[in-house]
Amino acid sequence: MDVAAFRALEPLCWRAPSAHNTQPWRLRYEPQAIRVGWDESRTLPVADATGRDLRLSLGAFVETCLIVAADAGLRLEYVADHDERHRRVGWLRTAEHRYPTPFRTTDVWERRTDRGRLTDGPEQDTLAALDAVARHAGGAVRAVPEPDRLGALLRAADRQLYADPAVVAELRRWLRLDPTHPSYDADGLSDRCLALSRPAAAGLRAALAAYPLLRPLGLPRLLAAADDPLARGGTVLVLVAPADLDPAGQVEFGRVLLRVWLALHTAGLVAHPLSQLIDVAATRTALGALLDVTPDRLMHVARVGRPTGAAPRSARRPGGG
Ligand SMILES: Cc1cc2nc3c(=O)[nH]c(=O)nc-3n(C[C@H](O)[C@H](O)[C@H](O)COP(=O)(O)O)c2cc1C
Repeated sequence: MDVAAFRALEPLCWRAPSAHNTQPWRLRYEPQAIRVGWDESRTLPVADATGRDLRLSLGAFVETCLIVAADAGLRLEYVADHDERHRRVGWLRTAEHRYPTPFRTTDVWERRTDRGRLTDGPEQDTLAALDAVARHAGGAVRAVPEPDRLGALLRAADRQLYADPAVVAELRRWLRLDPTHPSYDADGLSDRCLALSRPAAAGLRAALAAYPLLRPLGLPRLLAAADDPLARGGTVLVLVAPADLDPAGQVEFGRVLLRVWLALHTAGLVAHPLSQLIDVAATRTALGALLDVTPDRLMHVARVGRPTGAAPRSARRPGGG
């Protein structure tokens, strides 16, 4: 494999999605292969204590690397070699053939999380195609059968997360609510990507700055009530994994997640993840019951639909991984 050619493609690979846009991946070029690992300082030890979203993000990054390389005519394959202690998920190395994928670099470049207003959810045949992508890896994509019950679950999840000072402190570290923030164009969640107006961004900044004072006065409840993504339309889909998935299996499911998102993108649809529903034990259990699936199999939840405008492109670090 032409290592220099792959290096030149790295900025495209960094378009991979990651929770809170932390971009946790690290590539290290070794004589025989490229090591894929992660940077501990870019993990979310509080909000993502189990590391599920870290591993999904790393898998999404691996899949992105394979797609970008294949589209450039490079023969690259991934070999899983999970090592938690050394913060490694596996290796990218020269393959005999180009990675087979229906997706192109333009899909990687154009895909974005869209937290705005959505119209129709996916049609039955699109849903079946998404489900087929997950089934290939032993999983499934399911639409939530009683969507009316989700509003209360979402508010309960948000309330619980906003009530935890450690979760809020970690979120603040990755919020970029003011364009003068030094990392505004590098990483994290910007006011624009969160679809916040200037006054709303300023209000949220002020509320979070006063959090220690306002928390006992009911700020968590207020923050949870302030946004109602479900009112902005779409269908809520859940990515379900096989039972007892180990860490390497979760990375594999990050690859599946990216394929699902790119399949949505090529169908003219977008996704807005709602991970809080499965981050909080009580709402995760309730969602599992709605789907008749054991809660540990729920990998990812997102509101999906047709966009009504173009979502802003999220930031990436200029130096990348
Ligand atoms: C595993 C995972 C979990 C995510 N969870 C959420 C979430 O709960 N809420 C949300 O608004 N975005 C969530 N996102 C979307 C990221 O914030 C988004 O991918 C990142 O900011 C980069 O933006 P992009 O997807 O437009 O490239 C998640 C992304 C991943 C990969």
